[in-house]
Amino acid sequence: MSQIEGTQPGRSTSERSFLFGERVALRGVLRMDMNLYRGWLDDSEITHFLEMGFRPTSDHDLETVFKLSTETHENIVFTITDKQSGQAVGLVGLYAINWVCRRGDYRIIIGERESLGRGLGTEVAKLVVAYGFETLNLEVMTLGVNSENHRAIQSYENAGFVREGVRRKMIYRNSRYYDILQMSVLRDEYYANKSGSPA
Ligand SMILES: CC(C)(COP(=O)(O)OP(=O)(O)OC[C@H]1O[C@@H](n2cnc3c(N)ncnc32)[C@H](O)[C@@H]1OP(=O)(O)O)[C@@H](O)C(=O)NCCC(=O)NCCS
Repeated sequence: MSQIEGTQPGRSTSERSFLFGERVALRGVLRMDMNLYRGWLDDSEITHFLEMGFRPTSDHDLETVFKLSTETHENIVFTITDKQSGQAVGLVGLYAINWVCRRGDYRIIIGERESLGRGLGTEVAKLVVAYGFETLNLEVMTLGVNSENHRAIQSYENAGFVREGVRRKMIYRNSRYYDILQMSVLRDEYYANKSGSPA
């Protein structure tokens, strides 16, 4: 068995998760998730708006992703599981965390087509934003998104991110360039929206 393949997940992995929403659970990344991740990255529908997906994902890429997801203090990464099915459907994380400036970069991929557009991404974003402020004591979370990825932008706005600026022609995909919309959510904004809680 290759290192990447690992063992099959039990249905109970969501029960052993770290963060819980109504319909999703977030747990640490396991090697066995990497083969799923390969399929997600190699699906051009999933990566339609992303800068990834221009070449097939290699074992080396997966090993790098696994290490970056599990072995550094700068990244905190979760596998998203659908509580109903128990299956892994994506990855989400706070990356490049700067523990002095107290900021982190939010990134998410839901890779199972049938899991898209069902509200899971919004639920995950809300969970991770709350975790970032309340558990990690961050001051700001940032993200960059293809400015034409309207579903993603709406899900981020649902979780409290606001638009802060545009970086022009940053992504080349589908035979053309796209701008990147920069978004962020501040600690004060999070607590202001969370009624009755102290800042
Ligand atoms: C981006 C992503 C995480 C969003 O998660 P999701 O579960 O699909 O999104 P949700 O269902 O939670 O929310 C989508 C929102 O966008 C809205 N929406 C959907 N299509 C839309 C469109 N074409 N234009 C505007 N809004 C749209 C929905 O109505 C919903 O908003 P609402 O809840 O206020 O009604 C997910 O689609 C994904 O991972 N896609 C593939 C990879 C990707 O693009 N990652 C983002 C990298 S920055």
